[in-house]
Amino acid sequence: MDQLKRHRVYDLLKNDSTHLIGGMVNVKGWVRTRRGNKKVAFIALNDGSIIHNIQVVVDVQAFQDDELLRKVTTGACISVNGKLVESQGKGQAVEIQAEAIKVYGTADPLTYPLQKKGHSLEFLREIAHLRPRTNTFGAIFRIRHALSFAIHQFFNDHGFYYLHTPIITGSDAEGAGAMFRVTTLDLKKPPLTEKGEIDFSKDFFGKETNLTVSGQLEGELGALALSNIYTFGPTFRAENSNTSRHLSEFWMIEPEMAFYDIHDNMDLAEAFLKHLVAYIVEHCEDDLAFLQKMYDNELMERLRMVLDNEFVRLTYTRAVDILIQSGQSFEFPVEWGMDLQSEHERYLVEQSFGKPVILTDYPKGIKAFYMKMNDDGRTVRAMDVLFPGIGEIIGGSQREEDYERLQSRIREMGIPEEDVWWYLETRKFGTAPHSGFGLGFERLMLFVTGMGNIRDVIPFPRAPQNAEF
Ligand code: 4AD
Ligand code: MG
Repeated sequence: MDQLKRHRVYDLLKNDSTHLIGGMVNVKGWVRTRRGNKKVAFIALNDGSIIHNIQVVVDVQAFQDDELLRKVTTGACISVNGKLVESQGKGQAVEIQAEAIKVYGTADPLTYPLQKKGHSLEFLREIAHLRPRTNTFGAIFRIRHALSFAIHQFFNDHGFYYLHTPIITGSDAEGAGAMFRVTTLDLKKPPLTEKGEIDFSKDFFGKETNLTVSGQLEGELGALALSNIYTFGPTFRAENSNTSRHLSEFWMIEPEMAFYDIHDNMDLAEAFLKHLVAYIVEHCEDDLAFLQKMYDNELMERLRMVLDNEFVRLTYTRAVDILIQSGQSFEFPVEWGMDLQSEHERYLVEQSFGKPVILTDYPKGIKAFYMKMNDDGRTVRAMDVLFPGIGEIIGGSQREEDYERLQSRIREMGIPEEDVWWYLETRKFGTAPHSGFGLGFERLMLFVTGMGNIRDVIPFPRAPQNAEF
C-alpha cells in the first residue's frame, strides 16, 4: 500500500489540488480526532505541514478490518490511501475516502497525554516532547521557521554575510551576564596550582572557557573585513532570572556594519524589524489567525502598529523626564542613571507614544565598555528598541573605534587586557567607525505570536532548573 507518492496535507489543502480530485492519494500523519458511528468514521489527520487537518472518511462496513480501525485513535500515526474527493462537509474543500489504512504507531487512549484538547500551556511545558503535536505549538514552530528564513533573506538581499562566531569562548569581555563554564576537568579532584587554586592551564583549552553570551566581539572582527556581517546563533546567560522574558539559552541575531553610525544603525534596525513582521503577516496567515483567535485578539492590530508607524526616537534622558513627569507609580522609581525596567519601557511604548520607541544615549555606567562615548562624557551612543508588550527587543550601539579611548574604558572597567588584546588590535590596525545591534530572537517570537511566556516560543526551553527535554 505504500506505492503511492505521499502528499503533504499542505499540498492538498493549501495548494490548488483540483487536478488530483478523483485520483488516488496517500497521506501520512497523526490522528487528531476520530468521530462517527457504526457506518462511517471521520478521521481528522494532521501531518504538521499546515495547521488544518485533512478529513479522512471511512466506510466502516465496507472496511473489513475492525481490529485495525480500533487502533485509529487520537495520537496514533497512520498512512492512508484513498480517493481525493470534493468535501461534502463544511470547512474543507477536499477530503479523502479511505481505501487502505496502515497503522504505524498506536497511542493508548488511557495513557496518551494529549488525548483531550485544551491543556494549559503550563502542562504542555511539562510534556515538551509531545507538545509539538498540538495546534498551538505547530503554529509557533512553523512561524519560528518562517522568521528564521526571513532573517537570512533580509540580510542576503542587503549584502550582509552570515558569519559563524564561536559558541565556546575564552573571554568574558561583554559583561552581559553570568556565564556557563565549559570544562573537562574532574570536578571532584581538579588539578591545583601551588597557591591551591584550580589550575585551568590543565583544562581542555589550556585556559578558562565559557559558553558565549554574544557573538558581537567576533562579529566586529568580521565587519572590519567584510563590511557587513550578521550572526544568528545560540547564546547563553546563567542569570537566575525566572521571568517570562528570559531564557538561559536563547538565539540572537547580531548584524555588525563598518561605516555605520548610530543613525544608520537605527535605520537598519527599524527596516529589519518591519521586514520580519511583514513577512510573517504575508506568509503565516493561517497560523496567525489561529493564535489571534485562541490567545490574543489584538495580535494583528499590534503587528500592524509596527508596520504602519515610524518608530519614535528619543534620548534616554528625555525618556527619564517623561517617566518622572508621568506621575505614574512604578515598582522601581525612576531616576537618571538607572537601568530602565520593562515596566518603564512598556509605559513609554504603550502609554506615552503608542508605537515602537528607540532610546539612545544611555548613561555610560549601565552600558558595555565598547560603546562610543558622547562628547558630554556621561552618555554613550547606545540604542535600545522597545516594543509593545515586550519592552527591550533590540540592544545595540555605535562602537568606540579609537584605540586610546577604548583602552582607557577597558582599564576603567577593570577588564583584563590579556582577554581582549585581539579586540583592541582592530583599533590599532585600520580601525573604522562601525555599529551593530543584537535582536533577541525569542523576544521577537513573543511579539509576532502574541504568546505571553518565552518558554512557549522555543521548542526546548532552557531556564533555571529546567533542562529535561
Ligand atoms: O542587550 P543585549 O545584552 O546586547 C548584546 O548582547 C549586544 N552584544 C548586542 C549587540 O550589540 N550586538 O542583548 C540583545 C538582545 C536583547 O535586546 C534581548 O532582546 C535579548 O537579546 N536578550 C534575551 N532574550 C532572552 N533571554 C535572555 N536572557 C536575554 N538577554 C538578552
Ligand atoms: Mg540590552
